[in-house]
Amino acid sequence: MAAAASSSSLASGYDMPWVEKYRPNKVIDIVGNEDAVSRLQVIARDGNMPNLILSGPPGTGKTTSILALAHELLGPNYREGVLELNASDDRGIDVVRNKIKMFAQKKVTLPPGRHKVVILDEADSMTSGAQQALRRTMEIYSNSTRFALACNTSSKIIEPIQSRCALVRFSRLSDQEILSRLMVVVDAEKVPYVPEGLEAIIFTADGDMRQALNNLQATYSGFRFVNQENVFKVCDQPHPLHVKNMVRHVLEGKFDDACSGLKQLYDLGYSPTDIITTFFRIIKNYDMAEYLKLEFMKETGFAHMRICDGVGSYLQLCGLLAKLSLVRETAKAP
Ligand SMILES: Nc1ncnc2c1ncn2[C@@H]1O[C@H](COP(=O)(O)OP(=O)(O)O)[C@@H](O)[C@H]1O
Ligand SMILES: [Mg+2]
Repeated sequence: MAAAASSSSLASGYDMPWVEKYRPNKVIDIVGNEDAVSRLQVIARDGNMPNLILSGPPGTGKTTSILALAHELLGPNYREGVLELNASDDRGIDVVRNKIKMFAQKKVTLPPGRHKVVILDEADSMTSGAQQALRRTMEIYSNSTRFALACNTSSKIIEPIQSRCALVRFSRLSDQEILSRLMVVVDAEKVPYVPEGLEAIIFTADGDMRQALNNLQATYSGFRFVNQENVFKVCDQPHPLHVKNMVRHVLEGKFDDACSGLKQLYDLGYSPTDIITTFFRIIKNYDMAEYLKLEFMKETGFAHMRICDGVGSYLQLCGLLAKLSLVRETAKAP
């Protein structure tokens, strides 16, 4: 920890992104997703890596896991034994036919029982043509080369590849898991903070560790102090308290107050999508009758869908508030 802190002061003028600086190097240091991580640990220990697909939402440690696993498996042979291709590299059919095939044919001396590794990050952005070209290569060279694919949705990987791979699923990280990692960084970088500031970061990140670390760094470099106000300024999201008040007004039957709260947010320039996503997250955690909560979530979901379809007007959001008020009235009636 001390080493990390001093290196930051040495590199004066240049701040390394914290997401890179604090990217875990070992599989064991990856936070959360215990099942997935322990499976990878077993692979790292035994050395026989199957073809893998890691799938899950952004910022949960997929790329980190693959890199750490490859480093643990190949150690000093990493440079020779690993081919890394991500979405910014050309991965059309030609590359699969030439570059990947050449790599698979290359002779590399590795410790017994180890294989060369091809890392295909963000593999769901590969065209299905390129994926088709890959399946054969995967099979022919399976005794010397193994593949690790990372993607957000495994369904965008063609079936024949899926059936050749072991699937490891990642899910969003819990607030507690994000907090524990934030504390490590906050301590190492000596960031002044109040607990509400970290809570705000966790709220805005919504289970995405990359976003949490980026928001922490952005707040720190902008204000040198992490509190609620600063975090929401930097992240440019509607303030949850403000949205919470709107929900409270609806529940208290004060439709006009709810609408004027909405108007304020809208006039501040927040887009309907920003507002509705925050709205949904507030409702999800709001302390209210379960029946009401479910109805509220349903209606919010419909409104979100209409906004995604392009009807993102002030009227749309007002309509949602009206609908929610109605739901509440009818819930009270019997
Ligand atoms: N589970 C995790 N444990 C610790 N750090 C993480 C974790 N997930 C993400 N991070 C942090 O976020 C950054 C991005 O993670 P990455 O593995 O690239 O996410 P993705 O799942 O989108 O590939 C990493 O550099 C690391 O600092
Ligand atoms: Mg990634």
